[in-house]
Amino acid sequence: MNLWERLSARDGAQEADATDRSRREGAAEARTSFVPRLDLILGVVAVAVRLILDPLIYFALAIAVAVLIPGRTGDFVTAFFVAVGSLFLYRAQRWRRIPDHLRWLAWADLNKPLLRRLSLEAPGTYAHTIAMANLTEAACDAIGADGLLGRVGAYYHDIGKLRKPQHFVENQPRGRNPHDKLKPATSAAIIRSHVRDGIDLAKENGVPRPIQAFIAEHHGTLPIAYFLAKARERDESVNAAEYAYPGPIPQSAETAVCMLADAAEATVRSLADPTPQSIRASVEATVAARIQDGQLADAPITLRQLGIVRDQFVRILTGMYHGRVEYPSPARPLSITTKPDSRATA
Ligand SMILES: [Fe+2]
Ligand SMILES: [Fe+2]
Repeated sequence: MNLWERLSARDGAQEADATDRSRREGAAEARTSFVPRLDLILGVVAVAVRLILDPLIYFALAIAVAVLIPGRTGDFVTAFFVAVGSLFLYRAQRWRRIPDHLRWLAWADLNKPLLRRLSLEAPGTYAHTIAMANLTEAACDAIGADGLLGRVGAYYHDIGKLRKPQHFVENQPRGRNPHDKLKPATSAAIIRSHVRDGIDLAKENGVPRPIQAFIAEHHGTLPIAYFLAKARERDESVNAAEYAYPGPIPQSAETAVCMLADAAEATVRSLADPTPQSIRASVEATVAARIQDGQLADAPITLRQLGIVRDQFVRILTGMYHGRVEYPSPARPLSITTKPDSRATA
């Protein structure tokens, strides 16, 4: 190795060290800026609210009063508890979400270490995540599903891309695609692994199971179409199962909406000229394709609700991508000169 090669090897090593150091510093900063005990406080409040709202506790108290306090006083107090318990049962469907919402709120904090890392290490995925969280929440709310759970689930759905962010198109600088040098089977394995990696990262960070479901189910058992087609160009007899996501398919209305939002956002973002008509056509095709693929077969969501979801997506995506105003270019290009102004010195 000559001197020039040795010097360039040393420079390369130093550059790699600096990148590594700045990544570690970013991760450390991500850890420190999160409000430290917010999740614990909200967790305790959630348990307390769950106990206060539980109608069974009121019925148990009523029975205890009936047994322990004989006579008219006991009757009145028992009647009171039964009435309060009945009221809670009547309203329970709505109120039962309150304790869960307190938990989801803690995980909706964008300063959580995983989300901070996503914003620093995979900015393209982070932007996609925020856009589809808005879609998922609006559509879930419109069909009576849990909008906050949908939003938080969307925040974490692609967290597995943190392991190899540059292998996903939204994080690739123009003209640099590491898949150009890889076999289709290797590329498909990397893309597929973001689901497994996401679940592992979520478990390591204590992300609750209902949020983990969004990571596991957002691609269902869909094929990784681009690399499957590339592999078939070389060999017709490839095993399609090796080019499919592991699943399962969505099991709840919220994860089903997340799957649709994921596909709709990515498809509309790739439109060359997004008009209200092309956005609607693209969203309709996406929803129809997922139904035909059987990806929504296990989700408790009706065709009527899917129509509402589709309309919400069209409304929001049209607002996001259509009607960008083109600014007129200045008549004379602005130039910044370093030449001393003769008038100023005169
Ligand atoms: Fe994904
Ligand atoms: Fe995604």
